[in-house]
Amino acid sequence: MNIRGRKPIIAGNWKLNKLAAEVAPFAAELRSALPAERGCDVVICAPFPLIPAVRESGAALNLGVGAQDVSEHEKGAYTGEVSAAQLFEFGVRYCIVGHSERRSYHGETDFMVNEKAKALLANAITPIICVGESLEQRLRGLTRELVEYQIAAAFSGIPAEAAAACVVAYEPLWAIGTGNTATTGQAQEVCADIRSALARIYDAETAARIRVLYGGSMNAGNACDLLAQPDIDGGLIGGASLKPADFAKIIAATAPAQRDAHE
Ligand code: 13P
Repeated sequence: MNIRGRKPIIAGNWKLNKLAAEVAPFAAELRSALPAERGCDVVICAPFPLIPAVRESGAALNLGVGAQDVSEHEKGAYTGEVSAAQLFEFGVRYCIVGHSERRSYHGETDFMVNEKAKALLANAITPIICVGESLEQRLRGLTRELVEYQIAAAFSGIPAEAAAACVVAYEPLWAIGTGNTATTGQAQEVCADIRSALARIYDAETAARIRVLYGGSMNAGNACDLLAQPDIDGGLIGGASLKPADFAKIIAATAPAQRDAHE
């Protein structure tokens, strides 16, 4: 728990990487690299077919099992889709929605993100709702308006108690997979804007309970500084989550952030 009373989350987004056979060796390496004590939730968001392997190999490490997408539909004639109830049955307790790669490559709209978040909440799965601006939007000074709109759309119709259980990830598109991490100032500023937007939609107490993560080229070298920011409650990590030693260092970086926050 940090001084704000929010337990940090370090979530790996494996995207379209790894085979099921690689999960047990990953977990063994992660286990030997992990700090003895950890004050954060650790989650792996894996491709669907790898979920049983993550659940099995991650159990001893207390790893949360996550997915990267879900259908907004409960059931029916939706070939290729996977429902929230099906994910829950397989042990999934977290699911990314609205990742920029799904928005860009699969036409996911803000309204779909909202429907998916509701489907997850109805099935006791924590949505990790991704928002973030493109480089052009940032250069035109539209970051705050865009992100506030994405938040308003994603949370529309979700009551305060359910909203408090959601996680938001601020992922500027220009920082994803590029090595161009947002500066701590840029990341903190937008994460604070997100919390203010949530306070306006709900109330300050609800906004103070929602965990806001940063994602975009977070790595073992920059995690400490990012995680020490008052409105950054963890990370959504792509590339560095594929390497157990790097991922373990990011997990360990939540400890000084909490210690500093208490000083
Ligand atoms: P990278 O950490 O590889 O930049 O990816 C971030 C991301 O998209 C996590 O969802």
